[in-house]
Amino acid sequence: MRTDALLSRFGYCSRREAAAWVKRGRVTYRGKSVKSPSEKVEPAEVLVDGEPVPFADGLYVAFYKPLGCTCSHREEGELVYDLLPEMWTARNPAVNTVGRLDKETSGLLLLTDDGAFEHAMTSPKHHVPKVYEFTTSAPIPPGAVALFASGELVLQGEKSPCLPAELVITDSCAGRLTLHEGRYHQVRRMLAAVGAPVETLCRVEIGPMKLAALHLQPGEWVEFDPKLFAGR
Ligand code: URA
Repeated sequence: MRTDALLSRFGYCSRREAAAWVKRGRVTYRGKSVKSPSEKVEPAEVLVDGEPVPFADGLYVAFYKPLGCTCSHREEGELVYDLLPEMWTARNPAVNTVGRLDKETSGLLLLTDDGAFEHAMTSPKHHVPKVYEFTTSAPIPPGAVALFASGELVLQGEKSPCLPAELVITDSCAGRLTLHEGRYHQVRRMLAAVGAPVETLCRVEIGPMKLAALHLQPGEWVEFDPKLFAGR
């Protein structure tokens, strides 16, 4: 790829500004200063200000979303992107969340600049199971286990029933729910439908990835290999 395209692709500067970056000797390729913004380079072998290009093969990050921030580029208030390195926001293609968690949901959230990966992971065909841990403000009726598993629960305002989901009641007001689809506010709406409104909600697993195994604190992130999800 051209050096000016690289600088803009990875969020350093605009293509127009790239000439000045090159002129000042900020970009080196295979140990030599790049002389012209049109010079072709392999991103993995470029240094900018002496540092390798971050996520030169695409950005794949698992983030422990804290409570109170929104999975959006536009909304008011704190956004998940405000908690991540500023340069990620300038990358083009943009870094996006893979699906969303509500503002008041914490837990495992994937981010990527790979549109094909994002699409594959959110496509209904894909069915990557997601596990949520929650507490409720009223006891969970034991009958909810069979109802959620039946594939017959129709949420308010919807026509098609939810796919079968696995509910494990861990305490009178706490449980784990595994979903194989992602409808709007699905966990909250399913539990509200059985008279147990959700009080706290955290996504703890996405397919083979477990939040606990990543040893993150809320607000922290770690790179992952997208092959982890290959063929799922
Ligand atoms: N279900 C919800 O209700 N909220 C989320 O954030 C995710 C799943």
